[in-house]
Amino acid sequence: MSSFNSKNVLITGGASGIGKLMGRMALENGAANLVIWDINDAALEETKAEFATVKGNVHTYKVDVASVDDIKINAALTLKKLGGIDILINNAGIVVGKLFTEHTHDDIAKTMNINTLALMHITREFLPGMRSRKQGHICNIASAAALLANPKMAVYVASKWAVYGWSESLRIEMEQGKTGVHVTTVCPYYISTGMFSGVKSRIPLLKPEVVAKRIIKAISSNKLVVKLPWIVNLLPFAKATMPLRVFDFVIGKGFGIYNTMSSFVGRK
Ligand SMILES: NC(=O)c1ccc[n+]([C@@H]2O[C@H](COP(=O)([O-])OP(=O)(O)OC[C@H]3O[C@@H](n4cnc5c(N)ncnc54)[C@H](O)[C@@H]3O)[C@@H](O)[C@H]2O)c1
Repeated sequence: MSSFNSKNVLITGGASGIGKLMGRMALENGAANLVIWDINDAALEETKAEFATVKGNVHTYKVDVASVDDIKINAALTLKKLGGIDILINNAGIVVGKLFTEHTHDDIAKTMNINTLALMHITREFLPGMRSRKQGHICNIASAAALLANPKMAVYVASKWAVYGWSESLRIEMEQGKTGVHVTTVCPYYISTGMFSGVKSRIPLLKPEVVAKRIIKAISSNKLVVKLPWIVNLLPFAKATMPLRVFDFVIGKGFGIYNTMSSFVGRK
């Protein structure tokens, strides 16, 4: 059991959306220290002020997780202050929400750096401490997009497919090495945080509070993979058993998934 009690918890992208909600829940579950890494200065300050009444210490760091240098500098500062991180939630993410041909080279690099490479570099900084203490938990926020192709999010989809494969491989390495480090991979469908505002979906958008709660529970019970809502669990089976054209018809047209992004607005 990866209990939050008296633990040091680091959440990237923890100044907004499900990251912020999970931070509050970590404190309410007894975390001694909550470390928030985020690029948004104003949101960091706001979050710190909001959490002032909750038990536990909150440490905020302005970090651009797209930069390996920034990751290394702030990991050293975090470790100097707290000694170690027990639970790392790799949550920061972005979406561009354009057709692939409309992506600039910078859009592509940013998406892959923030959504994929950052998780690896950040984990690389905190994993040695976890391994030497023979305990720790790494939770990687992927997406249902890790299990599906979808127009107007080709690079986002690629970034999340990569996270899923890396996170699951890391889990097996940790288990084979009897390291005491647990890994949880999370694949939620659209959540109404604002990141995907404008999206039109026949399947109801998930509530941020529900998702955050499920992730915190999954970490506490060392769950390996969380797919939300339950129907997402059927995707790999549907993909494996249906001819691709049938899959496109059922999932893309029937459930309307391939048109969900047509009215995407996203964050400003
Ligand atoms: N919202 C959804 O529909 C949805 C669905 C599935 C998965 N997810 C994933 O869940 C995670 C959280 O999403 P959310 O909906 O809470 O989004 P959000 O936009 O509310 O929060 C993302 C946070 O990441 C931070 N961030 C962005 N770029 C950063 C950078 N370079 N360095 C540091 N911090 C940075 C932002 O400032 C923000 O606080 C993301 O990884 C996202 O891909 C979201």
